Amino acid sequence: MHVRALSLRDFRSWEQTELELSTGRTVFLGSNGNGKTNLVEALGYLATLGSHRVSTDAPLIRLGAQRSRIGATVVNSGRELRIDLELNQGSANRAQINRSPVRRPREILGILQTVLFAPEDLALVRGDPSERRRFLDELCTARLPRLAGVRSDYDRVLRQRSALLKTAGRQARSRSGTPADLSTLDVWDGHLAAHGGELLAQRLRLVHELHPHLEQAYRSIAPESRTAAIRYRSASLPPEFLDADRAPQPDDAPVLESIMLRELTAARGKELERGVCLVGPHRDDLELLLGSAPAKGFASHGESWSFALALRLAAFELLRGAGTDPVLLLDDVFAELDRRRRAALAAVAATAEQVLITAAVPEDVPPELEATPLRVETTGEADERISHIVDQSGAALAPLSEDP
Ligand SMILES: Nc1ncnc2c1ncn2[C@@H]1O[C@H](COP(=O)(O)OP(=O)(O)OP(=O)(O)O)[C@@H](O)[C@H]1O
Ligand SMILES: [Mg+2]
Repeated sequence: MHVRALSLRDFRSWEQTELELSTGRTVFLGSNGNGKTNLVEALGYLATLGSHRVSTDAPLIRLGAQRSRIGATVVNSGRELRIDLELNQGSANRAQINRSPVRRPREILGILQTVLFAPEDLALVRGDPSERRRFLDELCTARLPRLAGVRSDYDRVLRQRSALLKTAGRQARSRSGTPADLSTLDVWDGHLAAHGGELLAQRLRLVHELHPHLEQAYRSIAPESRTAAIRYRSASLPPEFLDADRAPQPDDAPVLESIMLRELTAARGKELERGVCLVGPHRDDLELLLGSAPAKGFASHGESWSFALALRLAAFELLRGAGTDPVLLLDDVFAELDRRRRAALAAVAATAEQVLITAAVPEDVPPELEATPLRVETTGEADERISHIVDQSGAALAPLSEDP
């Protein structure tokens, strides 16, 4: 697939821009802070409804503006779809498909698939388990957009159940208060296990299918290093489920649901004591292994980068295997890589349907990619600085259009 047109309105440093994009490789060039990453961040947001840099929407809205708009025309196997998203300060975000409003923004998920590789990806290896859970869940959702609903249901039930655990735990500890009504907790256990079982089944399927791609990608980047492997990590699942070689079964979701219910029952006392939910996919992790050692804490700086890159390349290959190339977004990454890793990434970038690259200087991009340059500059002062795309003569390539 590819993005034929991108429009931004009050997104970060972009005030109003309509940008035509072509297939093949395009590189956005410009000095630090000119707004290059903001462009790929906007596309990543359309694909995942999240930013790779911040966890809330507020910083994405241009300073002084009330809302931000991101729109893209996505071409997939000859079929064109237009998606538009409005990020609102203080009220719910809204989305449109082909200019018709949809009930929830998450209905646009799956229309644009991206794989974004950015300097922040080092956190995939070195950061908290939440970084790796997000990696898994975003990839699961790219493959199966329906999962966005399951994730949001799971998160909602988790919040409500956790609140209940806190009050019930407090009541159980105080002798004088009314005894806690634990039957409500049983109901929440049922919901949590149902959504959790479905999420777990998709994560395990993903790890199983991603594993060979990851091994292969890491070998191509760092052939002299130890073998890379991934393994799902969960304290509440029997070990056979955690083996990446285990083939997923059609009844995994209900089986995992009943395992979760059993574990929730067993953990009830401890949960009430601590007032937190101790069982479920929100506690799990993706273990990254180099040889037999965990990458986190053991891998060198170069090995950690290689692992992060291999995870992204594996994600790209997995999505591509389903029939269409995701859009590859490479944010300032070539400069960080040594010769071999640049070559491995360039080899994938050379064959992808559309690759959007950001770099401060042209020398950072491998010349064999023959990327079409687009220059990003800013005008204005301090907080009022606004990004523009200019051609080499300095004229605006993408003139500001009238308000739609
Ligand atoms: N909400 C916002 N409103 C206005 N400007 C913003 C907002 N968020 C970020 N910016 C501005 O955007 C600029 C950063 O843009 P971006 O990260 O895309 O730069 P870049 O071109 O990728 O730079 P580098 O080469 O350093 O990575 C900063 O100048 C920042 O002040
Ligand atoms: Mg940048």
